[in-house]
Amino acid sequence: MEHKVLVVGGGGRCHAIVDALSRSPKVGKIYCAPGNAGIAAQAECVPIKDTAVDELRDFALSHAVDLTVVGPEAALAAGIADVFKEAGLRIFGPSKAAAVIESSKDFAKRLMAKYDIPTAAFRTFEDYGEALEYVRGGSFPTVLKYDGLAAGKGVIIAENLAQAEEALKDMLLDDKFGKGRVVVEEFLTGPEFSFMCFVDGEKVWPMTVSQDHKRAFEGDKGPNTGGMGAYSPVPLVTDDDIEFSLEKIMKPVAAGMVAEGRTFKGVLYGGLMKTPAGVKVIEFNCRFGDPETEVVLPRLESDIYDVFSAVADGTPMPELKWSQKAALGFVMASEGYPGSYGKGYPISGLEDAQALGDIRIFHMGTAVKDGEYVTAGGRVLMVVGFGDDLKSAREHALKAVDCIKCDSLFYRKDIGWRVI
Ligand code: AMP
Ligand code: GLY
Repeated sequence: MEHKVLVVGGGGRCHAIVDALSRSPKVGKIYCAPGNAGIAAQAECVPIKDTAVDELRDFALSHAVDLTVVGPEAALAAGIADVFKEAGLRIFGPSKAAAVIESSKDFAKRLMAKYDIPTAAFRTFEDYGEALEYVRGGSFPTVLKYDGLAAGKGVIIAENLAQAEEALKDMLLDDKFGKGRVVVEEFLTGPEFSFMCFVDGEKVWPMTVSQDHKRAFEGDKGPNTGGMGAYSPVPLVTDDDIEFSLEKIMKPVAAGMVAEGRTFKGVLYGGLMKTPAGVKVIEFNCRFGDPETEVVLPRLESDIYDVFSAVADGTPMPELKWSQKAALGFVMASEGYPGSYGKGYPISGLEDAQALGDIRIFHMGTAVKDGEYVTAGGRVLMVVGFGDDLKSAREHALKAVDCIKCDSLFYRKDIGWRVI
């Protein structure tokens, strides 16, 4: 039987989810809300916002959607899984109560403290004066995290007291991100990696590991972004590291969520750091990573419809098989990103890039104007190359990037620098 699937979201991550679903013989029709111009080649895009959960539920009911898969955290934090379940609809994604593991840094830190999960030491503050006093007495750099969703902009690494003061002012006095609290954290060092797992209550199935590049410019310089490129697998993460991360981090956290009455179903994303004192948690997300998904899901050889169904229904999980091929992708972003940027610049050469073979181009923020793709977001395209190893995947992806012409795009040439 061919099923109808609705994918909620519209960036590169959702394009990769749609792409993976389109490889399943069990999937007939794919809808994506709202989708984007690139996704439209593989799914029927529906103009409903990802956070308009009631409208999405009504759409799923009226179109006999068999399964809904949620990309962005905003939809999950808005309670989409709860609303769909209430209506008897099958959905892949955690409840609002479980999504707090991402939306509240303070919740995540307290959970980790309670269940003995390795992470940076921390304290949470509501009061500007107390926070400043504490930071004044500590060492630098220090890490300040706004306790709530801040679109990736709520984390400041303060090198000195002046920077910390300014950040605390923004977060606690001027309420730049809204009324909230601040988690002050010990500064950790070491390479970061992304460990995404399918989770159904206490059951945890690991995906292959990937690594994102958060800073805007080469050499890991410039402001933090949503991510400028990724690759998978990650050779500097050993089998022992993965075993430790699974047994001492992901499984106890999943079990802890059940014990807290916040049973998690969906993708639990561990943003982990390999510090000199072992692997520690930097953050948890309640959904697939972006751009990590764009290099991880193309390597999944199992039928993803079965995987999503196993989590959504609590039925047996098929074996997760991963391709031996390495994947490495470059994000092409609008000049100015993550600050302000222009839109509507024509993009050409996509077909030439695709024609190289062993390339996937995921659209992150594009639109169509006069029959032509144009830029429509900060992150615009994720160009992923595949190869026998990361080096050849990288060289191949670079050839594809070279084919793509646009007056307003930049990318980091050094994706994979830690391992190549
Ligand atoms: P987060 O949103 O919590 O993932 O933080 C964004 C980025 O800030 C992370 O990917 C890290 O590069 C950096 N970061 C966050 N927490 C720490 C920490 N405790 N020590 C060092 N770097 C951190
Ligand atoms: N790439 C980081 C994230 O998805 O949060």
